[in-house]
Amino acid sequence: MDSLNRPMRALRISVTDRCNFRCPYCMPRDKFGSDFQFLDRKEILTFEEIIRLARLFVSVGVEKVRLTGGEPLLRQDLPSLVQGLAGVPGLREVTLTTNGSLLASQAGALRKAGLHRFTMSLDTLDPGKFHRMSDATVPLEQVLEGLRSAREAGFENIKLNCVLKRGVNEDDILPLAAFAREQGHHLRFIEFMDVGTGNGWRMDHVVPSAEVAARIGAHWPLERVHAEDAGCVARHYRYLDGKGWLGLISSVTEPFCAGCDRARLSASGSLYTCLFASQGLDLKAALRAGADDAQILGLILERWRVRDDRYSELRTQGTVPRTRVEMFHIGG
Ligand code: GTP
Ligand code: 5AD
Ligand code: SF4
Ligand code: SF4
Repeated sequence: MDSLNRPMRALRISVTDRCNFRCPYCMPRDKFGSDFQFLDRKEILTFEEIIRLARLFVSVGVEKVRLTGGEPLLRQDLPSLVQGLAGVPGLREVTLTTNGSLLASQAGALRKAGLHRFTMSLDTLDPGKFHRMSDATVPLEQVLEGLRSAREAGFENIKLNCVLKRGVNEDDILPLAAFAREQGHHLRFIEFMDVGTGNGWRMDHVVPSAEVAARIGAHWPLERVHAEDAGCVARHYRYLDGKGWLGLISSVTEPFCAGCDRARLSASGSLYTCLFASQGLDLKAALRAGADDAQILGLILERWRVRDDRYSELRTQGTVPRTRVEMFHIGG
C-alpha cells in the first residue's frame, strides 16, 4: 500500500518514446519536430530487462500490464515482448494502447503472442480532421483498416479512446458513438488533460464528461452502471436499447486519484508513480549496475510506500501546476 492506502495493481510500460503521430495534445510538432532528440537505443530497456522488472512488479501485486509509447508498435518485434510477458506467472492481462497506424500488419502476430486486449485511439471519423488532429501523413483509412484486421485476428472487447477538445472535435461525439455502437466497440471519451509541458492546456478547452453524457443520452438514452473494477479510470454507461457500453474518463472534472493503483515504467527504465510526476526513480541504473532482485524490489517498494500523488485532485482544488514528465515518455 502507498501512503494513501492504495495498492499497486497495474503497470503501464512505455516501450518507446517515439511516435509517428504528432497529436497537438501530446507531442505538438513545434516542440517535438525533426530536431528533437529522442532516447538513444542503448538508453531504452531491453525486452529482457522489461520482463525481469515485470516479474518483480507482479510479485508485489501487479495483475495487469499495459504496453504504451509513444507508439508501442514502432518498437521492433513487439510481439516477442508480449509473448514473454504473457508467460509471467501471476500476470492476468497484457494489453496495449496504440494509435492503430501499424495494427494492420501486426494484429495477427500480437494475437498469437498472447495479447489479451488492446485500446486504439480514434478522435474523429472525418479524414481531414484526422489529419489535423494527428498531424501526420497516415490516413484515417489505415487506422480503420487496422481495426478491421484486429477483429479478423480474433480480438474482442476492443476499446476506442477519443480525447475531446472544445472547438476541435465536439462534432464527432455522435458520429463516433454511432460507429462504436454499430461495430460493437467500447468507446471512451477522455477529457483533455494538462499532461506534459507543451500542449497549451486551458480549462475552457475541456469538454466535461457530463456534457458528453447529456449529448449522447439525448440521442440514445443511457444509464450509468457501477460496473468498474477498483482503480478503473472510466465511468461506465449502458445504452438502454442494449447496443453496448460507453465510458467517460473525467480526469479533470471528476478525478479518480483515490483509487489510483497504476505504476508507470518509462522507456528509459524509470518508475513514475503519477502521470503528472516531475521525476521518476531510475531502476535501469540499478539493473545495469548488477543489483539483484531483492535490491530492485526494495527500491520499488520503498518508492511505492511513500507515494502520495493525487495531482488531478489537487488541480481541481486550484493548486498551481509544476514541471511534469511528457506524456510520450510514460504512455499516458
Ligand atoms: P484500462 O483501464 O485497462 O482499460 O486502461 P486505461 O483506460 O487505463 O488505458 P488507456 O491507455 O486507454 O488510457 C485512457 C486514458 O486515461 C488516457 O488518456 C490516459 O492518459 C488516462 N489515464 C490512464 N491512467 C490514468 C491515471 O492514472 N491518471 C490520469 N489522470 N489519467 C489516466
Ligand atoms: N489528454 C487526455 N488524453 C490524452 N492522450 C494523449 N494526450 C492526452 C491529453 N493531453 C490519450 C491518447 C491515448 C491515451 C494513452 O492517452 O489519445 O488514447
Ligand atoms: Fe503519438 Fe499517442 Fe501521443 Fe498521439 S497521443 S502523439 S498517437 S503517443
Ligand atoms: Fe493517479 Fe496521478 Fe492520475 Fe491521480 S493524477 S489518477 S494519482 S496518475
